[in-house]
Amino acid sequence: MKIKNENEEILSLIDRSRLPEHVAIIMDGNGRWAQSMGLPRIAGHQAGMKSVKRVIQTANDMGIKALTLYAFSTENWSRPPKEIEALMTLLCRYLRMEVENLNKQNVQIRFMGRIYQLPELVQRELDKATKATSKNSGLILNIALNYSGRADIVDGVSHLAADIHVGKIQVDEINEAVFQRYLSTADLPEVDLLIRTSGEMRISNFLLWEIAYTELWITPIYWPEFNREHFYQALIDYQKRKRRFGGTAAL
Ligand code: FPP
Repeated sequence: MKIKNENEEILSLIDRSRLPEHVAIIMDGNGRWAQSMGLPRIAGHQAGMKSVKRVIQTANDMGIKALTLYAFSTENWSRPPKEIEALMTLLCRYLRMEVENLNKQNVQIRFMGRIYQLPELVQRELDKATKATSKNSGLILNIALNYSGRADIVDGVSHLAADIHVGKIQVDEINEAVFQRYLSTADLPEVDLLIRTSGEMRISNFLLWEIAYTELWITPIYWPEFNREHFYQALIDYQKRKRRFGGTAAL
């Protein structure tokens, strides 16, 4: 594992045998960061990309299995068209420039959300990146695009209903484990830790089903400032939590 010496002290506080398997992040505060620097909002998203790269590298170095990033929600279409275009351009540029690097890091990239509603050009880039990294066995980088938790549940219900209609599954066979297979996160581990930057205390329609027992870690730091140390601190705090999953603490 290639982790820099300067972080040795904080790293020594992390128990590598009890890491979360799946970390999800609501990357919030790009706009406010830009505003605080007297820059246009788009500069905030550009700076946010650096945090994206850092967080992917850190998660992969740590040996975390899956990282889900909330990059664009179904509600984000209400932003000014120029900002939407800039976000899509940034994403495509990232994919074109970084796929080789992701391959070197053994990272497998995936996308979830209503991808078919994205511009065709974007869909092509996503497809290329997915195929180019599909054989990698390191971190699964799952990017939520045109995603909303409610929409994902509705889509899951719709697929399930279609399977019932053709007799693939019977109504009395439906339970939580069966339904989970119809969600976009079906083949990913449980989300153990959800990080949100910029201090907002809400879920914003992210992973609604999946976070039933997820530990939440919210920091006032804006996303462009989120660095390795913040990530390590989230892991340290996560390891201090007593996860009871609705039961009582072990005596
Ligand atoms: C929230 O900040 C951030 C977003 C809506 C977009 C985040 C996307 C990226 C950083 C690029 C994603 C690309 C990849 C490859 C994952 P905000 O604009 O809502 O900030 P504000 O709440 O301060 O206005």
